[in-house]
Amino acid sequence: MLVCPMCLFYKIKKASGMKKIIPIIATLFISVLTALTVAQAGQNTLFDRLGGKAAITAVVSQFVDYNSSDKIIGKRWNPDNTENLKLYLTELVCNATGGDCIYTGQPMDVAHAGVNVTEDEFTRVAANLVRALDKFKVPEKEKDELLSIIASLKDQVVGR
Ligand code: HEM
Repeated sequence: MLVCPMCLFYKIKKASGMKKIIPIIATLFISVLTALTVAQAGQNTLFDRLGGKAAITAVVSQFVDYNSSDKIIGKRWNPDNTENLKLYLTELVCNATGGDCIYTGQPMDVAHAGVNVTEDEFTRVAANLVRALDKFKVPEKEKDELLSIIASLKDQVVGR
């Protein structure tokens, strides 16, 4: 059955008077405002919450440095490739977190083909990322979100 909203309004108005309508309108208004605020908060990408490109570049640089000086990972990475790695990882994190970047490196499975990365090495690299995020005091929520993104790449990195 179709209900005419204006007819309903006038019926309510007639039955209850304006005094009763005002709280209903106020409640509706507050609900709409709340919904808009929640929707707007949801639009804040992880990229924005991490502090944008400059903050990501700083964290990635620290992350790569921790790996380079790691007694196990440091031996696996080519030291001449450090700057490229920083660039590609920054692009990758920027892109994957909703930033306006294009990843120009090789696909993860191709980059790690023949590298035979072990579970332990992956865990070690993830721990070095946590260290870098902690050094820059990235909050738990954003840290967990980024770690989930990195964890989702595991199959393309380990055992290739
Ligand atoms: C934790 C997730 C990881 C991510 C997101 C990641 C990402 C990357 C990226 C973006 C590149 C550059 C691709 C290119 O040159 O086009 C790369 C290369 C490479 N990665 Fe990973 N990686 C991860 C874990 C690991 C682990 C655990 C190892 C094991 C030690 C590893 C070893 C390498 C090696 C050997 C290269 C070739 C470049 C070089 O020798 O410097 N990666 N990785």
